[in-house]
Amino acid sequence: MDVKDVIINQDAKLRDALQLLDKLGLGILFIVDDFEKLVGVLTDGDIRRFLLLNGNLDNNVKDVMNTNFFSLSVDSDNETILNNINNKIKVIPLVDDLGKIVDYASINKLRRISISAPLLEGNELLYVTDCIKTNWISSQGKYVRSFEKLFSDYHENYSALAVSNGTVALHLALDALGIGEGDEVLVPNLTFAASINAIIYTGATPVLVDVERDSFNIDMDNIEKHITNKTKAIMPVHLYGQSCDMDKIVAISKKHNLLIIEDCAEALGSKYKNRPLGVFGDAATFSFFGNKTITTGEGGMVLFKDSVVANKGAVLRDHGMSKERRYWHDFVGYNYRLTNLQAAIGVAQFERLNEFVNAKRKLAESYNETLSKYSFFQIPVEKQDTYSSYWLYTFLVKEEAPFTREELMNYLSKRGVETRPVFYPLHIMPPYKLFGNDENLKVSSDISVLGMSLPSSVSLSVVETNYICSCISSFIDEIKG
Ligand SMILES: Cc1ncc(COP(=O)(O)O)c(C=O)c1O
Repeated sequence: MDVKDVIINQDAKLRDALQLLDKLGLGILFIVDDFEKLVGVLTDGDIRRFLLLNGNLDNNVKDVMNTNFFSLSVDSDNETILNNINNKIKVIPLVDDLGKIVDYASINKLRRISISAPLLEGNELLYVTDCIKTNWISSQGKYVRSFEKLFSDYHENYSALAVSNGTVALHLALDALGIGEGDEVLVPNLTFAASINAIIYTGATPVLVDVERDSFNIDMDNIEKHITNKTKAIMPVHLYGQSCDMDKIVAISKKHNLLIIEDCAEALGSKYKNRPLGVFGDAATFSFFGNKTITTGEGGMVLFKDSVVANKGAVLRDHGMSKERRYWHDFVGYNYRLTNLQAAIGVAQFERLNEFVNAKRKLAESYNETLSKYSFFQIPVEKQDTYSSYWLYTFLVKEEAPFTREELMNYLSKRGVETRPVFYPLHIMPPYKLFGNDENLKVSSDISVLGMSLPSSVSLSVVETNYICSCISSFIDEIKG
């Protein structure tokens, strides 16, 4: 219901107000003056009491309204709103600086809780201001170098190259490693499409491999049957922050002489055997899109094991232009650079990485506690030797559940909680049909139909988390009747 529908002027007749109350069923009207300023609220109870005292429906609303009402600023967050909703105050008008009513909130109409929002309250503004004050806003500048150094230090001294997003990071990694036409690259069937797109950009052929039902990651027992004499590389994707079994992948790649490009877009801060993901192969890539664990708005990073390959990557990132001879091009390169402005945000975000990962892990604990009460949910598990950043908390609504994933998602959406379904399996979409075969890709298809993600922002408050969990519990109570 739009707030405009619930507003009535103080000079309106009580009879009209009563009719409106009856029609809307919200139990309250917001009363405004001629300047649209909120001057009172009116409930069914206010009118009933007035009539019992011999009041008359021909009176004006202003004779009856409650002027001692509770309101909040329209900027209030859900935590404040939830803390003020109680048995007496069920609907709260939200007003702007001038006291005009702009919106209202109730337990069923909260501000939207988004799936993953950035938190930019550290040194981001300070560092970006520094870029502007010093005139270093393009892709030269100290923050690009600092950002790369932070990444390199964190990832066992792999060479780091900052790039414009996680998709070009993958393309640059593949290209610098020499992957191209005639090569085959193994990639999981369940991932964001950027993983497979980057392989296609190089002219190589992606080969779709099914995933494990518990981790959602590439199925080790399935990999070897896809290896041919054209297979050049494997691209494990650590989906939703869950680590692949890197020992097994490294063993297979050694046995078949394959390159490994880890897609860590969703897994910064995750670990395998206490080592950060991204240090198990020849290259690894990260994304800093706005919904990622740390963000630069748009942005990405490539890690290379071999410094010679990294140097080639650096040349390719800068138009393929020689580092020694300006305007001399040894390769067809790209402009995949990150700006100093973006890197400044990245440095400030990276400073809080541990804090962000801890917050996501704590959030996952709360969700696990609620969902594990019900046998029809499959909650995420950290497999042996893995440590998840829980980038997006993702679980399955099993087939035996007395409701569908869509029903749960709709219920939460109506209560202001944003959710996301798991990705489509790649092989069912037109550009990728060629690269996979239905019979071999059953698990990814199942997960795609059953999986969903819950809000996973690091800024989510305890009150909001409890609210989401209680919505899930109420939904199940209602279903069970
Ligand atoms: C697994 C995976 N790979 C690659 C990417 C691409 O990153 P970007 O959006 O920064 O291009 C994403 C991003 O969303 C992703 O989830």
